[in-house]
Amino acid sequence: MENETIYILAIESSCDDTAAAVLANQKVISNVVATQKIHEQYGGVVPELASRAHQQNIVPVVHQALAKANIDKKLVSAIAFTRGPGLMGSLLVGTSFAKSIALGLKIPLIEVNHMQAHILAHFIKDEENNKTPEFPFLAMTISGGHTQIVLVNDYFKMEILGETLDDAVGEAFDKSAKILGLPYPGGPLIDKYANLGDPHKFKFPKPKVEGLNFSFSGFKTSVLYFIQKATKDNPNFIKENINDICASIQFTIISILMEKLKKAVKETGIKRIAIGGGVSANSGIRKALKDGEKKHNWSTYIPKFEYCTDNAAMIGIVGYLKYKNDNFSDQSITAQPRYRISE
Ligand code: KG4
Ligand code: ZN
Repeated sequence: MENETIYILAIESSCDDTAAAVLANQKVISNVVATQKIHEQYGGVVPELASRAHQQNIVPVVHQALAKANIDKKLVSAIAFTRGPGLMGSLLVGTSFAKSIALGLKIPLIEVNHMQAHILAHFIKDEENNKTPEFPFLAMTISGGHTQIVLVNDYFKMEILGETLDDAVGEAFDKSAKILGLPYPGGPLIDKYANLGDPHKFKFPKPKVEGLNFSFSGFKTSVLYFIQKATKDNPNFIKENINDICASIQFTIISILMEKLKKAVKETGIKRIAIGGGVSANSGIRKALKDGEKKHNWSTYIPKFEYCTDNAAMIGIVGYLKYKNDNFSDQSITAQPRYRISE
């Protein structure tokens, strides 16, 4: 029994992506994500529409994950699912679906904290990326829903050192983009234009926040006032300066992140830094981390993009690690929208 392969079927539905994956031990054998397009026209995620779309997507997405993995569902060892944090209505769909499959197949159920999963995604074994961080390390999770710096002492011993007090960093990108008239989610577009512009052309104030915490709501307001004033003087201001505006916005956001990260390294003495979340795709943050390797002797870890954004493979790896520890949940488990990483 020692060398038996553990197959985990994982389900993620915390926000606006319906996802399912199958893992064979630490390897991902299928990873399916259905991104909900419906939210684009509203410029952000509408919770009620998200849960409705999860209900429509979940059966085909799980079916596809099993079909792509090419395994019979009778071989599945356990079901892992996202318990929280996230939107209540969205979490409920994944939670109840996971509970019913586990019951139907008479296999164990494993609840997963979405934020731990973003961090433990680094332990997925992959041909291209087999460099995993040694404990302890610092993890910075940056996405449309989260901004945290976490001290990771072991797989399940994590401590939040700092986090955002208001908007997440991805929201700072997306809301700035919206002010510029760019479609949702605007983060990748800001990144694209930023690469063609001058990051020092316009100055935006950086928030003063205690310790290792972040705040992005004032930043968004400063972008709004700046654009309102500039377009009053010149209605074509955005069009004429889009590259420089985006470069300056991106430069400021990345400086905010990097200042706190450097402070965390200084305070903990830990130079191993792992990042996760959709904003990890940003070319500016990737470059800043690579520069840190040269300048400050850091070791940095960035997972494959498909494991950075919301996905079920990361839920599956936590499922695998918990399975090995006999850490299972029973059918009384409920969704937890405000689930903290250290609970
Ligand atoms: O992890 P994710 O897919 O979902 C959440 O949990 O939010 O992250 C999505 C976020 C969005 O805010 C999106 O604009 C941002 O990640 N994002 C980027 C880039 N690619 C995705 N932000 C800046 N630059 C990028 N290249
Ligand atoms: Zn996430």
